Amino acid sequence: MSTYENILIGSKDGVVRITINRAEKLNALNRATLTELEAAILALDPEVRLLVITGAGDKAFVAGADISEMADLTAEQGASFARLGHEVLARLESLEVPVIAAVNGYALGGGCELALAADFIIASEKARFGQPEVSLGVTAGFGGTVRLSRRIGDARARQLLFTGEMIKADEAYRIGLANEVVAAGELMTRVDAIAAKIMENAPRAVSLSKRATRFGEESELEAACVFEQQVFGLCFATHDQKEGMRAFLDKRKPSWIGR
Ligand code: HXC
Repeated sequence: MSTYENILIGSKDGVVRITINRAEKLNALNRATLTELEAAILALDPEVRLLVITGAGDKAFVAGADISEMADLTAEQGASFARLGHEVLARLESLEVPVIAAVNGYALGGGCELALAADFIIASEKARFGQPEVSLGVTAGFGGTVRLSRRIGDARARQLLFTGEMIKADEAYRIGLANEVVAAGELMTRVDAIAAKIMENAPRAVSLSKRATRFGEESELEAACVFEQQVFGLCFATHDQKEGMRAFLDKRKPSWIGR
């Protein structure tokens, strides 16, 4: 596996963990880190079943895009930086396997946007979320004006985007930004337990559930319902559907092959 300067990658039992590793800069996303993240996503083993993304240290998930790199950009360079972030986050979002953001501290600006590109967020009680870009004279640029609204609704997203205020983990949970809040020392244990629970299920059925919910988010109700019917039908062409239903009827645990 390649070595990276700004991220760490670990893998165990089909779960890959990517850690943004610039703790001294609160894991701020500079170009190099985004480029490494993209390379790591592209290099993922096809056998991977689930990805966890988190931040190094006990203070930050990611405290935003790197302000020192953005300060002197031209308009064209600013747009190019935003495009890079969008490309990387789109790659993360469109992975077939589930992606969990384990938010261990500050998730601000580009950090909140990175977490939003995951399927869901599990937060430590120390997590803080926000889109403070307006306090720096810019807008959100890695999808915050898009994915945040879709996750928590337009009005709540606008409040965060206009005020730039940080919210605590329990508020993030209350408004549906974080799925769960756990004690700081328990975050990875809980994320591992969720990963293990997901991996008890048929891999293809999980990834098709992801694909269908993503299609549903972006489509009219009728088209999304037709898509779900097609996806459901597709499952019956898999070994694992036969195995899953037969195992139920035989009162035994299923044994998945992933297709
Ligand atoms: C660059 C950052 C940074 C960032 C923190 N640091 N956030 N460097 N970009 N986003 C650096 C600090 O400069 C400092 O470096 C070190 O990390 C520790 O941070 P401190 O500020 O000393 O820590 P603390 O006082 O505890 O404050 C924590 C904090 C604060 C509240 C999270 O760091 C903060 O407000 N950071 C910026 C948050 C932000 O505005 N994010 C949005 C960025 S815009 P030194 O070298 O001094 O020790 C964005 C746009 C995305 O994300 C879209 C782009 C297209």
